[in-house]
Amino acid sequence: MAFWEPILQGLYVFLPAYMANMSPVFSAKLAPRWSAPIDGGRMHRDGKRVLGDGKTWRGLVGGGLLAGLTALLLGVIAPPYDGGGALAGWDFGLQGFAGPPIGFDGVSCTPDGQCSTVDASSASWYAIFLFGFVVGLFALVGDAVESFVKRRLGKERGAPWFPFDQLDFVVFGLLGMVVASPLLPTGWVQAALTDHWGVLITIIVGTPALHLLVNRIGYWLRLKDVPW
Ligand code: CTP
Ligand code: MG
Repeated sequence: MAFWEPILQGLYVFLPAYMANMSPVFSAKLAPRWSAPIDGGRMHRDGKRVLGDGKTWRGLVGGGLLAGLTALLLGVIAPPYDGGGALAGWDFGLQGFAGPPIGFDGVSCTPDGQCSTVDASSASWYAIFLFGFVVGLFALVGDAVESFVKRRLGKERGAPWFPFDQLDFVVFGLLGMVVASPLLPTGWVQAALTDHWGVLITIIVGTPALHLLVNRIGYWLRLKDVPW
């Protein structure tokens, strides 16, 4: 197995969360007038905003929807595990959330040698959409939780706070995948995340780096006001 395969898988299975995290700038362009903040403008005991104007219902809903669509799209465009072409023979074949499980051959083994194969025949499109939606929602709830802590620490909206700005949606996104795992074929999420240690490492360590890069590009493209 090539070294980049677990890296690719990590980026791939977590794509709905990445899309959710990037989505608020697009939601803002699509619905500029729906800018109601989640905290309703309320102040906390410390006299500062609970979350701030940067956390909107629009962002939350848009993130869930885009993540759901992303999961669905991956399920539709991903080639089958045993397909031919340039992707033939990839252990981490890009099966998507609909087809046979990714993660080696879909066989998942516990340390004591108990192995089972994921049965993907039970996946349906609305379950895949809902899976992505939950993951996206969790990712942005994590982002809002981080804003809550930032406000309590006296950091203004938009103030950088490394590495939490980069990791807020990761922890909650992973949690969302676990919570929503019953929507996918039994064992899919577990196999996708744990078949190789490199997958989780990629998501947890690789994400802050990727996040910084993407934000810089967003800044260059004038989609974002600040380069972080
Ligand atoms: N955004 C939104 N709704 C959300 C999350 C984000 O509308 N639930 C939008 C806001 O316009 C926000 C931008 O996306 O300014 C970037 O998000 P983020 O970097 O997380 O917010 P910050 O402005 O940095 O605010 P904070 O300091 O609270 O993290
Ligand atoms: Mg944030």
